[in-house]
Amino acid sequence: MRKKIVAGNWKMNKSYSEGLSLFSEVLNMVKDEIRGEQAVVVCAPYIHLNALSALAKESNQVFVGAQNVHQEASGAYTGEISTEMLSSVGVEYVILGHSERRQYFGEDNALLAKKVDATLKNNLKPIFCIGETLGERESGQHFNIIKSQLAEATFHLSAEDFSKIVIAYEPVWAIGTGVTASSEQAQEIHAFIRKEIAAKYGTEVAEDITILYGGSCNPKNAGELFAQKDIDGGLIGGASLKSRDFIDIVKVLNS
Ligand code: PGA
Repeated sequence: MRKKIVAGNWKMNKSYSEGLSLFSEVLNMVKDEIRGEQAVVVCAPYIHLNALSALAKESNQVFVGAQNVHQEASGAYTGEISTEMLSSVGVEYVILGHSERRQYFGEDNALLAKKVDATLKNNLKPIFCIGETLGERESGQHFNIIKSQLAEATFHLSAEDFSKIVIAYEPVWAIGTGVTASSEQAQEIHAFIRKEIAAKYGTEVAEDITILYGGSCNPKNAGELFAQKDIDGGLIGGASLKSRDFIDIVKVLNS
């Protein structure tokens, strides 16, 4: 049975003390809300990771993730953080390929393939983001874009390694805009992603992969989105910054 996940992406928000309070609230509230094959992941800025991992230690269903990582193991890369450093403070997940990293920091599929390798090598799980822009959707290129983002950055992996990845479909036009993909639009792409994975790695691998939806997901629309056959939870930006909203989305996994 594939894992259901609600992951929060705090982006560049929250001071150290604000982050600690938010995470403590989430930990407290989440305790009674998650079941067996479910996980909550909080992807916070680097400065929070050590403290949050220590707080999450007791929980086997709440995990801490980073929002990016460098592809090299160590060296003269001023300002960067390696996978080994993340592992050393108990981080378990890393968001890779977020559209903001692609757009503002020039990350392309070739670079992301290296980041995926470095991440898996250190036993961290990538939450690998893919998604089309509005222009790409309007010109009917969305399936091709999704396919190339997926294939160019992850299809070099063995089936065993690929199985450790979480995919997040995040249409760029829905991120932070308040415009959500309809549940039909999201399901259509999720089914397409699963089909592409099945063609490459077989049905068993495809059926086991967790595919999250991201883009203006909130407590009101999460129910309909998560009810879709191929949507296994969400990657939540804005709504992960308020503990109540985030937990209300986590609760949807059980409804
Ligand atoms: P949003 O962000 O929920 O604020 O749209 C989602 C994301 O960027 O992961």
